[in-house]
Amino acid sequence: MAVDVVQEIKLRTDLVELISVYVPLRRSGRTHKGLCPFHAEKTPSFHVDGERGFFRCYGCGVGGDCFTFLQQKEGLAFNEAGEMLARRLGLEWVRRGDTAEKRSERERLYDMMALAQRFFRERLKDAPVAQKYLERRGLAPETVEAFGLGYAPPGYQALLGWLKGQKIAPEEAEAADLILRGEHGLRDRFVDRLMFPIFDLEGRPVAFGGRALQADAIPKYLNSRELPIFHKGRTLYGLHVAKQEIPKSGFAVAVEGYMDVIALHQAGIVNAVASLGTAITEQHVGVLRRYSDELVFCYDGDSAGMRAATKNSSLFEAAGCNVRVARLPEGDDPDTFVQKHGADAFRSLLTQAEPLLDYQLNTLRAGYDLTDETKRLGFVREAARIVAQSSSSLTRQAYAAKLERTLEMMVDEWYPGQPDQAQRARLALNQEVRRLLRSDGGAPAGGGHPTNGRVMGRGPTTSGPRVQPPAPVRSGQGAEERYVLRAALSEDRWADRVSEQLTVAHFSDSNLVGVAAKLLSEEGDAAGSAPQRADAVKADPELAGVVSELLMDEAPLNDEGLDRCLEGLERAWKRSRKLELWRAYNAGEFLPEDPRREELRRLSAELEGRQRREA
Ligand code: GTP
Ligand code: MN
Repeated sequence: MAVDVVQEIKLRTDLVELISVYVPLRRSGRTHKGLCPFHAEKTPSFHVDGERGFFRCYGCGVGGDCFTFLQQKEGLAFNEAGEMLARRLGLEWVRRGDTAEKRSERERLYDMMALAQRFFRERLKDAPVAQKYLERRGLAPETVEAFGLGYAPPGYQALLGWLKGQKIAPEEAEAADLILRGEHGLRDRFVDRLMFPIFDLEGRPVAFGGRALQADAIPKYLNSRELPIFHKGRTLYGLHVAKQEIPKSGFAVAVEGYMDVIALHQAGIVNAVASLGTAITEQHVGVLRRYSDELVFCYDGDSAGMRAATKNSSLFEAAGCNVRVARLPEGDDPDTFVQKHGADAFRSLLTQAEPLLDYQLNTLRAGYDLTDETKRLGFVREAARIVAQSSSSLTRQAYAAKLERTLEMMVDEWYPGQPDQAQRARLALNQEVRRLLRSDGGAPAGGGHPTNGRVMGRGPTTSGPRVQPPAPVRSGQGAEERYVLRAALSEDRWADRVSEQLTVAHFSDSNLVGVAAKLLSEEGDAAGSAPQRADAVKADPELAGVVSELLMDEAPLNDEGLDRCLEGLERAWKRSRKLELWRAYNAGEFLPEDPRREELRRLSAELEGRQRREA
């Protein structure tokens, strides 16, 4: 089984030896110590626990196991690190979760894609029209080569016939979505199209985007469907190259199209990637974050992609990702811009990129006719809503102040030579900003919007049940969350209890939510028993940092402690839920028959009863 290979690698890899290749380590008690290879420091705060296979830096906070170490140090994907570690030990690497069958299915898909890429590339050589097209679009032959571009010939039978000649079963190509089975039998899926292979992190072609050569063809791009080796929500075009550059330049550039990525790379801007015609997802952000937590969007301002990015802006904040937006002149995309004005001009657009929140506010303002008195309030409301989406109370305060300053300046323009009226308007608008931020932000003393990592944008609250009631962080709660997770990860019976009594909604510490989500996931029976899920959490490379930190904490655990923490978390959840319901109620969101009325009554009664007993 695949997980066993992971475990065996962890067990048998000598972490001290592995890390010593990068940085000298010295024994210090039970563990080893050295200068952190992930940040510059003069006194060693990097610890390696060789016995237990964990490392952690108390300076910069990185931590994990042999997998995480290689992934972060070498910029590898989990499977690449696995392959490398397995080789060192003379083991065969099997991709996690693969059965023998699935493995061969995937292997066959990889082979088919590689074969098809060769085919398309060869065909480009005999296709002067396609070559001219690429030339007209300013792509140098080396660029075409580097991105493996190709051409799918016309005629509906080109690939099919070639496969026949190669004695390859068409079913193989059908499984890879390269051949279609229709009423009239089999035919090529990509016909008379320029072919953009889409590579995975390891640089293997896993799908294709096919662009029509005619300007008015529909669809302009035809993309492979989802396949076991290709997931649109996770794949970023160009990342197999950009992953080297992103950590060096300190940020990634997100653009919309294949052509944008290619043109930028050709111009020497090698940290650009594109999602595949879909909005940036939480998973994309998770992948990008491995390389940098700074992201610059360079999208068409009117595009669906940009709208999705601004609508889900809290997604980035939740992931700890800092997003800025670079504006292009009307009518340009990164491709046309860089071809016209060159790399330096593009770089200066990047340096001028504004923080996402500023971008949202500026865009909003441009959309309102603020000379119209009745529209002003609408603007203020909408602006406050945007600001209130931020989970950081510092950010909210800073932007509320900024908004007030902006309004003050505008007011002077609206009422030239009428200081009294200007003053009245100023007060009214500022009051409105504060009122809105208070009621929407609703931050109970020192709290803030919870970012439990899963609530994607608050959006306009609708009635109807919320799947993820947020839980405002209150002091001490983080400690309880840690305690229960440490318990669940260390003993099976505690894992059972925790998963019986808690849901993800009980967790508010953004560092821990990922662990809780996996441990408490209720994805059918497939997820297995709680102890099994706890093992899965420990084997999850994405969570290795937090998990190692939790496991290295040696404070004692016991049943009484767990009871106390479970009770505390339940109470905290009820309080925050009650608060949330009150907020919705006060905002007039409850319908007459709303079931939340009953829930609110019940919660209030329970919590009051409890307080009385406590008193
Ligand atoms: P060019 O017009 O060749 O410059 O393409 P582009 O790279 O600028 O792409 P564009 O900005 O028009 O679209 C962005 C991305 O959306 C493309 O790279 C595709 O991934 C996707 N896309 C665009 N048009 C279509 C379409 O008609 N169908 C599908 N499935 N995806 C599309
Ligand atoms: Mn374009």
